[in-house]
Amino acid sequence: MNKKITILGIESSCDETAASIVQEENGQIKILSNIVSSQFDIHREFGGVVPELAARAHVEKIDLISEKAINESKIKLDEIDAVAATAGPGLIVCLTVGLNFGKTVAASLNKPFVAVNHLEGHALSPKLNSDLEFPYLLLLISGGHTQYLYVESLGKYKRLGTTIDDALGEAFDKTAKIIGIEFPGGPKIEKYAEKGNKNRFKLPKPILNRGGCNLSFAGLKTAILRIQSEIKTEQDKFDLAASFQKTIEEILHEKTKRAFEIYLNENASLKKTFVVAGGVAANQGIKNILENLSKENKFECLFPDINLCSDNAAMIALVGLEKFKKKLFNELDFKVNPRWQLDEKAQFLKGAGVKI
Ligand code: KG4
Ligand code: ZN
Repeated sequence: MNKKITILGIESSCDETAASIVQEENGQIKILSNIVSSQFDIHREFGGVVPELAARAHVEKIDLISEKAINESKIKLDEIDAVAATAGPGLIVCLTVGLNFGKTVAASLNKPFVAVNHLEGHALSPKLNSDLEFPYLLLLISGGHTQYLYVESLGKYKRLGTTIDDALGEAFDKTAKIIGIEFPGGPKIEKYAEKGNKNRFKLPKPILNRGGCNLSFAGLKTAILRIQSEIKTEQDKFDLAASFQKTIEEILHEKTKRAFEIYLNENASLKKTFVVAGGVAANQGIKNILENLSKENKFECLFPDINLCSDNAAMIALVGLEKFKKKLFNELDFKVNPRWQLDEKAQFLKGAGVKI
């Protein structure tokens, strides 16, 4: 029997309004459409995302973006089997827009509704372009989160390590801002780094040799603030970006080695699969060092396609698809959860004086 499952995914947790149609036919997953509307122009003059402006832009665009996703996919409305929308974590005013829109579409089509954890979308995203199977070790590196997780199965996560201060994407963005690279600066650091001398500035690698695979990046920002006055020319910016990129690569190399050990300590017979996902996974330098390290340690290393690293709705539809297959639906009174964690039992590990 030719069984098709078609899911509409909606994403609005931060500054991207996104909608996508993902379809599985005979076990093959296909993205039929993936529309993302970014709000860089709205937030640029403020140097970062302004939640109320982001929410307003979501309200203005969500129906058009969804219509575009449906039209581009060439499916008919009645082919949609379920609607999946991000319910957290993220900015509450932004999440509310997509979640309410998703619930309304599900109710009007009389189809099941699935509330999706945005981080689970990132966690599963390589499944859109590869044969990803549970269990695996995940490094999630985004603008708000940086964690190593043991992914046992759908919805079953154990956090092995986390940042105790800034997220990695945040560290990229703050560094860019300090040296005067226009918002959104994170992705541009990599371009600047290509033209710089990576050995010019010595930056700290906080908690490198302690705290297991926990991470810390706040010390880098402080160090960069201290040398900010030395950054005068374009070449100075290139050199600082290159030194920063190199330092991050060295930290991730060391901490991932630790994470491999900690993951195998969970159970030595676990499948040696390592997934890297989230916006920062688009960084080619990071990708190269983690792929090489995986090879040395006989881990299969999987990244999402570059256009699926940053926020999108295809990954949200994908989680919707996996939950649909298990009939894991949600009621229409499901509330936004701005702090929704993948491992809800994990201890809060942030701030001064925290014990790692
Ligand atoms: O996953 P994402 O799109 O949004 C969140 O869920 O947070 O991640 C966005 C983050 C931003 O901090 C952005 O600067 C960072 O990912 N990012 C990068 C690169 N592309 C995006 N950081 C370093 N290098 C890149 N190429
Ligand atoms: Zn994200």
